[in-house]
Amino acid sequence: MTLGSLLFEAAARLAAAGFEEPRRRARGLFAAALDCDRAHLVGHPERELDAGERERIAAFLRRMLAHEPLSRILGRREFWGLDFALSKATFDPRPETETVVEAVLKELEDPGAPLRLLDLGTGTGVLLLSLLSELPNASGVGIDRIEGAAATARGNAAALGFEGRARFLVGDWGGAVLGGFDGIVANPPYIPTPALASLPPEVRCHDPRAALDGGADGLDAYRAIARDLPRLLVPGGIFACEVGEGQAAAVGEILAASGLLFAGAAPDLAGIPRALLARLPRRGGRIQKTGWKRERSRLGLRCGGLVEKRWVPRRALEASGSVTPPRTRMRRSPP
Ligand SMILES: C[S@@+](CC[C@H](N)C(=O)[O-])C[C@H]1O[C@@H](n2cnc3c(N)ncnc32)[C@H](O)[C@@H]1O
Repeated sequence: MTLGSLLFEAAARLAAAGFEEPRRRARGLFAAALDCDRAHLVGHPERELDAGERERIAAFLRRMLAHEPLSRILGRREFWGLDFALSKATFDPRPETETVVEAVLKELEDPGAPLRLLDLGTGTGVLLLSLLSELPNASGVGIDRIEGAAATARGNAAALGFEGRARFLVGDWGGAVLGGFDGIVANPPYIPTPALASLPPEVRCHDPRAALDGGADGLDAYRAIARDLPRLLVPGGIFACEVGEGQAAAVGEILAASGLLFAGAAPDLAGIPRALLARLPRRGGRIQKTGWKRERSRLGLRCGGLVEKRWVPRRALEASGSVTPPRTRMRRSPP
C-alpha cells in the first residue's frame, strides 16, 4: 500500500470520528511514525510502505482515535526549543506556558547573575530548565508533589545537560525549602473541580488530575503558594505564574494580599492574560512603576485592576522576524 493512499485513508477515519483538521493530524501522525518531515509525505505519495511501517502507523492511529494526544503517543514534547520526555505522572506542557518564561526573562535586570530559582509544581521541569537554558549562571530547584514527575524532571535535566544546576524534590509547594530565591515560577493546577468533567478527553484522560484540579474555584494552589512567597523570595525577588482564562484579576488579589507588588501581566498568542508577574518589595526601598499610564492608554489593555504588558512569546517573535515590542520598565527608587 502506498504512503498517499494510507494517508488519505487515515485522514478519512479521523474525519469520520469527528476530529478537527483531520488531514493535518494525519500528516503529523505519519511524520512521527515514519520519522520524516511533512514535506516528505507530500512529495512521495507513491512510496510503498513496508509491514513494520504500516503496523506502526496503525498503532498510532488507534491511539489517536482513542483521543490520545500525539505528544503522549510519542512520550515527548518540545518546549522553548528543547526536547522534554513526558511520563504518566507529568502534565503535558502547553505552548502558552512559554509566556511565563518569556515574561521572567524580560523582567530580569541581570541575566548573567548567579540567580537562584524555584519552580513550584515542576512537572517535566519545563519552566526551570527553559530558564536555565537562557541564564548561564543560574541554578534552581523544582518541586512536585508527585514522585514520578520529579523523577521525569530529573531525567530531562540530565538529558539536556543541566543536572549540575537543577535539583528536583518531592514536596508540597515550597514547604520543604528554605528561602533566598531570586525568582519563583509556577504553573499550578487551576481548573475548577466542577469543570474537570467537561474537559476534552485528550486532557481529562491523559493529564494527571493533580496537575489539573485547582479546587472549587480553581484558585486553591495560588492561595497556598502565595502564603509562602514572602518567606521564599529575597527582597525584590520576582514571582511569575500562569493563570487560567479569566483568573488574572483574582490571582492578582491573592498575591497582593500576601504583600507582593504587581509587575505586570502578559497575554499568550491568543491574547488571553496568561502570565502574572509580581515582586516582593525591597527593604527600605520602593518599587516605582514607570510608563504605566502611557502604556495603558497606548494599548488600551486592562485585565481586572491590572494593566497588561504587551509581551509576545519568543516563538511568535521568531516566526515574524520582528523585534521585541516596547514594554513597561520596573525601576527601584533609591533607598
Ligand atoms: C499544570 S501542572 C504544571 C507542570 C509544569 N510546571 C508545566 O508547566 O508543564 C501542575 C503541577 O503541579 C503539581 N502539583 C499539584 N499540587 C502540588 C503541590 N501541593 N505541591 C507541589 N506540586 C504540586 C502537579 O503534580 C503538576 O505537576
